[in-house]
Amino acid sequence: MSTQPRANSNADSKPVVVSGVAAARAYRAGLDGTVALVPTMGALHDGHLEHIRVCRGLADHVLVSVFVNPAQFNQGEDYKRYPRSLEVDIQKCATAGAAGVFTPDADELYPPGQPDVETDAPGITVGLEGQDRPGHFQGVCRVVVKLLNILQPDMVSFGLKDYQQLRVVQAVVTDMMMPARVIEISTVREADGLAMSSRNMRLDAEQRRRGLGLYKALIAAKRLVEEDGETDPQAVEGVMRAVMQSHQIEVGYTAVRHPQTLGELGCIEPALTGGVVALVAGGVGPVRLIDNMLLGAV
Ligand code: PAF
Repeated sequence: MSTQPRANSNADSKPVVVSGVAAARAYRAGLDGTVALVPTMGALHDGHLEHIRVCRGLADHVLVSVFVNPAQFNQGEDYKRYPRSLEVDIQKCATAGAAGVFTPDADELYPPGQPDVETDAPGITVGLEGQDRPGHFQGVCRVVVKLLNILQPDMVSFGLKDYQQLRVVQAVVTDMMMPARVIEISTVREADGLAMSSRNMRLDAEQRRRGLGLYKALIAAKRLVEEDGETDPQAVEGVMRAVMQSHQIEVGYTAVRHPQTLGELGCIEPALTGGVVALVAGGVGPVRLIDNMLLGAV
C-alpha cells in the first residue's frame, strides 16, 4: 500500500480552519474525493505528523481535529492543565499538508443540559487503562462517534501507541456499522526508544531518563519471549515490573495480552494468537506514561 502523498493533498498551503459544527459539515460536503480524519487533542508532535503523512498517502484530503475532550478526563486528571498550542498546531498541520483543521468548541459538542449518551465496548474497556482511568474510554468513544458523524471521513487514523484505545475504537466502529476504515499508525519513538507523547513535554531531564524504563521493560519482555521462549505471562509481567521499578517508575500495570481482544492469556503462544501484546503504564513524577509492544508477531 503506497503512502506517498497524493496529488490533491495540501502540502505547504494553509489549511482551512473551522470551529463550528455546521461549518465543518459544510466544508466536508464540499470536498471532492476521499477524506481521512486524524483525531487529536493538539500539542502535536512527530507522532501526530506521521498520522498526517500516512493519511496523505491514502486519501485525497486529510482533516485534523484538535479538541481537548473534557469527557475523557476523570476528576483526578487535570483537563485544564493539558497542553494547548493551537496556533503552533495549525502551523504544523500546514507544513504536514493537512487540508483542514477542525477545532470544535466544548459547549457545542456537549451542550449544557443535553442528556448524556454512552457508547462503550465493555469487553475491551474494562481493565488496564479502563481500570486506572474510570470513564476515560466512554469519553473517548463519545467524542470519536461525534467527530465521525460530523466529518464523515472515509478513513480515520489511530495510533498503536494507545493500543487499548485503538482496539476500543475498532470495536465501536465495527459494531455501530460506521463506514470509516480505521487506519493503524505505528508508534513513533525518540532515538533512544521513548514513545512520543504530548505528555513527554511535562517531564524534566531526570524524569525523562526514568521514563525510558517503560521502553526498556518492553525490550526485556521481547527478548524473554522471542529469544528465550518464555511462555508464562506472569513471568514476563514480573520482569517488566522489575525493570520499571529499577527506573523509579510507580508501576500502574504490566500485562501480556491477546493482541486483538486484550484478553488475559494462560500461556504465551504467539503462533496461535498472531503474537501477543505487552502493555505497560507507570507514573514518573506527576506524569503518567503508557507504552506497548507486539511480541512474537510473524
Ligand atoms: O488519542 C487521543 O488523542 C484522544 O483520545 C482522541 C482519540 C483524539 C479522542 O479525544
